[in-house]
Formats: sequence, C-alpha cells, structure tokens
Amino acid sequence: MPGEIKPPPEGCDVHWPYRADPPQRLKRQDGMFARYLERGGLARPHEDVAGFLAAEPGNAGDMARFYFFCLILDQLAKEDVPGEFLELGTYKGGTATVLATMARKLGRTLYVLDTFEGFAAADLAGIDADKQMEFADTSLESVRSLVGGESVVFVKGYFPATAANLPPGARYALVHIDCDLYAPIKAALDYFYPRMSPGGFIIVHDYSSLHWDGAERAVDEFFADKPESLIPLTDGAGSVVTRKARAKPAGQAPVYGMWQSAAHGGLSDWLGAGWSAAEDWGVWGIGPAHTLLIPVLVEPERDLSLSLDVHASLLGARTTQEVDVLAGGELIATWRFTAAENRAVRSVRVPARTMLAEGGGQLAVELRPRDLRTPVALNPATPERRPLGVALHRIRTGSV
Ligand SMILES: C[S@@+](CC[C@H](N)C(=O)[O-])C[C@H]1O[C@@H](n2cnc3c(N)ncnc32)[C@H](O)[C@@H]1O
Repeated sequence: MPGEIKPPPEGCDVHWPYRADPPQRLKRQDGMFARYLERGGLARPHEDVAGFLAAEPGNAGDMARFYFFCLILDQLAKEDVPGEFLELGTYKGGTATVLATMARKLGRTLYVLDTFEGFAAADLAGIDADKQMEFADTSLESVRSLVGGESVVFVKGYFPATAANLPPGARYALVHIDCDLYAPIKAALDYFYPRMSPGGFIIVHDYSSLHWDGAERAVDEFFADKPESLIPLTDGAGSVVTRKARAKPAGQAPVYGMWQSAAHGGLSDWLGAGWSAAEDWGVWGIGPAHTLLIPVLVEPERDLSLSLDVHASLLGARTTQEVDVLAGGELIATWRFTAAENRAVRSVRVPARTMLAEGGGQLAVELRPRDLRTPVALNPATPERRPLGVALHRIRTGSV
C-alpha cells in the first residue's frame, strides 16, 4: 500500500525506524560487507551506531547522517588526509560518539567543543532572534561517559572564545559544525577553514533545514568567495559538506570564465613582486607596482579579458586613488577608485600582442597606484606603515 511503512525484513541491517538504506558496501545481506572487510574497510556500522542512537533524542534514527560518517572514514584513510577531528556542537554526544570511534580507528585526536549548557544568549540575535534557548539539558560528564575519554579532548565553553584552548598549530582532517546558529557557525568557518588539511572535510549540519536559517546564511556568506563548492547531503536536517581544496600545482593555468580567489593564499603562484603575505580575504598590493603573473593557455593571437575584484586603500586625505594597469609593460587602462565606488569588479581587454611579448605562456600585469602615501602618513592614528595600494580579492580571465 503506498505510504505504508513496513517493518524491516528479518535479518536486514536497516535500523528501525529506518530512514535510509545502508550504502551497498555496508549491507550484510548483499554480501558486499564481506568484500568490504576483505578490502580493509574500517566502518563497523552495527557496532559503531550504538552511541549515535543512544544519545537522546537518538538523532531520530537519521541513518543517512550516520552512513555518511562511515563513508568518509574510509575516504580519509584511503587518501591519508592528515589532521585531527573536531566537533563544535555536541549536546548529548550522539555524533561525537561516531567521530570518536573514527578518530580512534585512524589514530587521531577528536576535539569536542560545546558550552554543555546550551545556546549562549548572545547568539540569539539578528537572524536567530526568534530562536529559543535549547540544549541546556546535558553535561560534560554525561557526554564523556558516553563518548569515552580515549583520544578525545573536551573543551567546555563558548565558541569562539574556546578557540584559545585549541593547539595553535593544529590542522584538521574533519570538522563537524553542528551549533545551529549564525554567529558560532560563521566564527567556526573563519577559524577552521584556514586550518583544514587539503582534502579535509567541513560538514555543517542544518544547512538545508529551512529552520536554522542562520546556518544557511553563515555557510553561503563564507563560501561565496572560496574555491570550494558546497554539496548538500540527504540527511534529515540537510547537512552540507565541502572539502578543502588541494594546493594547486605551481603555474597552473586559470580556468577561463571562473573566479579564482586570492583568499588564504589561493593565488600565491600568480603573485609576482609587490604583494603582502596571504590574508584570509585576499592580498594587499604594496608599494609602487603590484605584479600578477598569469599563466595563459589560450591561443596567443587572441585578446584576453581580465577582470579583477579589487579595492584601494582610501583614508585621510586620500579620498581617491588612480591605478595604471600595464600588460607586458604597455599601459592598457587607468582605474579610478573613490569612496562611492571602491570595491568593485574592474575589467580590461588585454591585447594579444602584450602576451606575445611575454612569450605566449605567461602574462605580466602590473597595477601601479599613483598616490603612494602610507596609511600612517595619511592618518597618524593608524599603525599601518606599509604603502598599501590595491587589495586583490579575485581574478577572472576569459578569451575575447
Ligand atoms: C543540535 S546540538 C548538537 C547535536 C549533536 N551534534 C548531535 O547530533 O548529536 C547543538 C549544540 O551546539 C551548542 N552550541 C551552540 N552555540 C554554541 C557556542 N557559541 N559555543 C559552544 N557551543 C555551542 C549547544 O550547546 C548544543 O549542545
């Protein structure tokens, strides 16, 4: 009968009330699980699920969520992604038990972060102003007794303040963010993203839930200018997952028509002289000339369109800035920055002859700000002494 929920057949691995079929490799009745064991598969879903379902409210039998963790356990092992595990938002420990088991199997440490007293009142603001205090009916002691202490470090308190209690040099292979609200999720992405190993998983629960709107907003805002894309999952509350991009091989050519982010060192192999060290948002151009060395793969006889998402350092008496743009030493544009139109996408057509002058394989583009006064000279109250010119956020190239 359509809509009728039948109990699972005798001997079936599906848990009741069942919400997802196990992945085939983990299904005992299909014979694939034996093959999985022969191949060295690490998950033991029939044992590992106990804590996940035991912690009230037992994750409501959300087996799709559980099986996803089983699959990434093997993927982390297969690719040998280095780094620790971390969960922000643990409540009674249901997901932490699964992550702790995974961490022990892979010889990693799991950091478990929560107030263990529910939401912080300060976070129930803005987009989350309509939410109520929840999840206070737990304790560090009860979670510790469920999750176990081996290979687990419990960090009690308000995040992001508790970030100060994490090892400063730690790198992470898996970060599970399940704290529901905009402020801590955004703070967690800011903190953990730069600390992820290449290939490391960031999973944010509730993204597609339509209940926790702050989760969706925090994730969308954060990843808007990152190279990683988001993959929604089919678990009950609609988690979303992304994996930290692997480092690009030196000199990798741009993908035409796609934005390439300068955040977190993303464009480091395209930066010639005149740039700051990588910052979380991009890089500052420093001094009289900032040079971009852009690999060019299109036929060198065709012009190139080049778009930069940039803003200029404007402060004190410097209310405008003019920046000459040169390609292969030839002036091709002068961009004007004002307070009314500072950060913006600025585009220029780069003539093919300037690329030929560079040998056809690489294009040297220079940005030369005309007003070179330092911020401290413009406003003695600012500590900034570097002669800041143009801040670079993203680059997009395309053939014309
Ligand atoms: C939905 S529960 C986590 C459920 C758990 N991951 C599971 O599925 O078994 C959300 C947790 O996030 C924690 N939390 C929310 N905001 C926090 C913050 N700013 N700092 C620390 N913990 C926070 C709450 O205390 C609560 O325990």
